[in-house]
Amino acid sequence: MKLLLDVDTGVDDSIAILYALFKPEIEVVGISTVCGNVEAWLAAENTLKILDLADAPDIPVVKGAETPLRKKWEGRVSYIHGDNGLGNVELPASSRKLLEKDVSDFHMELAGKYEGELVVVTLGPMTNIARTLEKYPEFAGKVKKVVSMGGTLSMRGNVSPVAEANFAGDPDACDRVFTSGMDITIVGLDVTMKTRLTKEHIDWLAENCRESCKKAVSYMQKALVHYRKGNQRQNYCVDDSPLHDPLTIMCALKPGLIQTECRKARIECGGTYCRGMVVTDQREHPFEAEYIRFAVDVHPHRAIRELLSAFWEEV
Ligand code: RIB
Ligand code: CA
Repeated sequence: MKLLLDVDTGVDDSIAILYALFKPEIEVVGISTVCGNVEAWLAAENTLKILDLADAPDIPVVKGAETPLRKKWEGRVSYIHGDNGLGNVELPASSRKLLEKDVSDFHMELAGKYEGELVVVTLGPMTNIARTLEKYPEFAGKVKKVVSMGGTLSMRGNVSPVAEANFAGDPDACDRVFTSGMDITIVGLDVTMKTRLTKEHIDWLAENCRESCKKAVSYMQKALVHYRKGNQRQNYCVDDSPLHDPLTIMCALKPGLIQTECRKARIECGGTYCRGMVVTDQREHPFEAEYIRFAVDVHPHRAIRELLSAFWEEV
């Protein structure tokens, strides 16, 4: 799978990136960053450090949007991701350099190079993808599929009663992507909240992972301490945490991990209480919208096994 990742690195983003790097079936062909959990520049620095942890090859990383399309960025989400986005774990500065390029040009070049093959996975607000569609409407026809972490259909929201952080972070961008006609799968809170990594899982992995993954797993073990505390406050988690971003990449590779339902959907871009909410229309004569595929259920044990196996099984 040729993978273009768009991330706001973030503890769960970092675990998702590591999963992708250690999965032989995935080739990460590019990474772009966006403001969300942290600024886009810090997400980019964090991403380079995470590439170092995996001794990854030279993957191009481009810094993207520092502000959402129309609203203000709300600042770092330190209580979940730490002040530095990596659960307050201090990793050595990377000697890798960012690729200095406009993020939309970068996306379009990859879509042209891997036309019909490129899988786009978004793990933060969709600002960069919306901008790319604005600059290059033909991008939509070149991408194989988009798999995105965000939103919720039936689970409560995590930043408002009805909205999830990535969609609420830039609802206008999300709605732009939803109306693009691309093949889109949404992995939202309905399934990520059911897929929990426990302290026991990560401690077990630290004992049992391959030698080549030791640095990465030791980082994950430390970063998850802060992430679990944040999730205790946000989601009443006790000694575990949801796997939002890693589950999303796993579903891009292994769609059988989830059950899905296709619905016509738009994003609420205004309002006092509902901004960022996913609105689906199941009426006989629905509103103007594209069909979007939503994950509605998950095999959590298979998903956890899939995550651990990337670091544990011999390849
Ligand atoms: O709501 C969870 C999502 O918001 C995850 O992608 C997390 O990293 C944050 O960006
Ligand atoms: Ca994220």
